[in-house]
Amino acid sequence: MNANRVAFITGITGQDGSYLAELLISKEYLVHGLIRRSSTINTARIAHLFHNPALKLHYGDMTDSACLYKILNNIKTAHPTMERLEIYNLAAQSHVKISFEMPEYTADTDGFGTLKLLEAIRNNNLDSVARFYQASTSELYGKVQEMPQRETTPFYPRSPYAVGKLYAYWIVKNYREAYGMHASNGILFNHGGVRRGHNFVERKITLGLGKILRGETDRLILGNIDSQRDLGSAQDYVEGMWLMLQQDAPDDYVLATGETHSVREMIELAFGMASIRLKWRGTGSNAVGYDEATGKDLIFIDPKYYRPTEVDVLWGDASKAAQVLGWRPRTSFQQLIAEMVQQDTQIVYKVV
Ligand code: NAP
Ligand code: GDD
Repeated sequence: MNANRVAFITGITGQDGSYLAELLISKEYLVHGLIRRSSTINTARIAHLFHNPALKLHYGDMTDSACLYKILNNIKTAHPTMERLEIYNLAAQSHVKISFEMPEYTADTDGFGTLKLLEAIRNNNLDSVARFYQASTSELYGKVQEMPQRETTPFYPRSPYAVGKLYAYWIVKNYREAYGMHASNGILFNHGGVRRGHNFVERKITLGLGKILRGETDRLILGNIDSQRDLGSAQDYVEGMWLMLQQDAPDDYVLATGETHSVREMIELAFGMASIRLKWRGTGSNAVGYDEATGKDLIFIDPKYYRPTEVDVLWGDASKAAQVLGWRPRTSFQQLIAEMVQQDTQIVYKVV
């Protein structure tokens, strides 16, 4: 461990937090992480790091400003000579559909939680030492105003999640301008992988495929399969987060693959990797996907998965990150889906 490499990750038990913790530990950081108390185990993604002396976990919650202040104070006391503290704010109620069902909690965590963390930094007099990364999102573009979307594209959020994240985006920018803080927004397009939460669409598809192949179910039920997403690999994206905090000056960056694919394409690709060629009949909520070889109906639509306001298409332009940070995604859409299919079905599919 390097005495000058200290980081604090909120959301360390999440998909991105777990990959980022691994990356930072591999770079000799001492990593502090915020975890929530839970009645069930919520640390599966970082269980392999538990006994690593480079990892220190602290109980807390983004809605509890006193604990955020206390954790940062403890970190400051533990590293009295640190010249830099990298803070990655990844904690969020990150599910867009669920944000319509719990809008106030989502705003408290995703919006005001960010403000509380920034204030905890200032109240601990850590503003000049801290480098702050905010997990902003392509959901900010919502009803998109430009194709593809880049840092200058106007925002048009379409969910309580996106509106909460819009507040966080602007408060980060405001603290940068008002107090000279090294605070950056990473505007990340969708990214997943084998640690992706089970109720995000690409993981739901590969898990559903596995269940069908094992005979545990005879169908996969989804919502809007015509929306399009720019989907990359979480492991590639956490490298971009780190790069943003290594720059002399803070700034905002889009991370994206530059390709967009419909949910329908994701389904066809995943099932194709298991040698199931899907054909479709019907449209909208009557669409059904069936196995061309057997005629068996496999994919059904249930409008309960529709969102009151949908984001129809996301397509990112990460040229700025490529030019300034030297960041480029390494994993193709096909490779990503193949990795997930392999994990969830044990089928090895070679992408050529
Ligand atoms: P994730 O897997 O859902 O992880 C979210 C993390 O936040 C978990 O560690 C969760 O803890 C924690 N959390 C939730 N509410 C909290 C609270 N009130 N206090 C403290 N911790 C809380 O999300 P992810 O995919 O890794 O995404 C990381 C961040 O990037 C999120 O802010 C997300 O909104 C944003 N983002 C994600 C994507 C993407 O496609 N993945 C794209 C753009 C932006 P538990 O484990 O206890 O639930
Ligand atoms: N979750 C889910 N479940 N989505 C479905 C389903 C389903 O059964 N059926 C269709 N979809 C559609 C959604 O309507 C949406 O258009 C698309 O699949 C992607 O949905 P999610 O996987 O839930 O992701 P998201 O794009 O809404 O949000 C993710 O990406 C954002 C970045 O753009 C999350 O990771 C957010 O936290 C992140 O900010």
